[in-house]
Amino acid sequence: MTAAVGSVSGVDLLHGQCHFGLGALSWARLGAQVTGLDFSGVAVERARALATAAGLDAWFVQADTQRLPDGLSGSFDLVVASYGVLPWIEDIPAWMTTAATALRHGGALVLVDGHPLTQMIDTVDPVRFDFPYQGGAAHHLRSTTFYASSATRLQTTRTVRYPHGLGEIVTAAADAGLWIDVLTEYLDAEDPSGRQDQMTRGRDGRWRLLLSGQQIPVEYALRASLP
Ligand SMILES: C[S@@+](CC[C@H](N)C(=O)[O-])C[C@H]1O[C@@H](n2cnc3c(N)ncnc32)[C@H](O)[C@@H]1O
Repeated sequence: MTAAVGSVSGVDLLHGQCHFGLGALSWARLGAQVTGLDFSGVAVERARALATAAGLDAWFVQADTQRLPDGLSGSFDLVVASYGVLPWIEDIPAWMTTAATALRHGGALVLVDGHPLTQMIDTVDPVRFDFPYQGGAAHHLRSTTFYASSATRLQTTRTVRYPHGLGEIVTAAADAGLWIDVLTEYLDAEDPSGRQDQMTRGRDGRWRLLLSGQQIPVEYALRASLP
């Protein structure tokens, strides 16, 4: 992520869907003036508490990334969002418009997320898919586990995720007025992101997902600028 973003010293940075602020505070540690945004009130509260405990300056806002709050337009040099972002979002054009509206001219969006192809996979051997590649239709899941913890919960939770293909994501960015600088697909990742039963860890410590012996992309990074 830091490689895709570059130096952030002195930069006004908006971290979208920042959860409890761990990533946002890492950018603050690297010298950025950080605003974190998440629609979970609990997450925002925890992020504020974490910033205080760490003695770091950062501002956290409770808001939906599909609608930029008043007063934040044209305020940022960088909008970043990472790992577990767009599958939670129904309206990708609205999300991209938020990013573009938040940026100053010359600023950039850097989005790093799980690859839509990987999200389709239910089992690797045999190869079975249980999620569409694209289209954005709501996909309802029931689970007794939660992505923030490996602990099994007593209650079943209902989650909704939305499939968006790379073409849809890049087109939405362009339609929002962003210029695509680079789109990179990665065949390995630092973290299995809950797919350790499907992925293989190489001697280099990187995780890969093989289908019929072929590596498939597990993450992508999009960098797009506001001209
Ligand atoms: C997997 S977490 C992101 C983790 C974070 N990027 C990190 O690296 O720590 C997904 C986050 O998206 C937030 N979220 C989901 N939909 C949202 C929306 N429409 N607007 C704002 N936040 C949203 C959730 O509250 C949650 O904190």
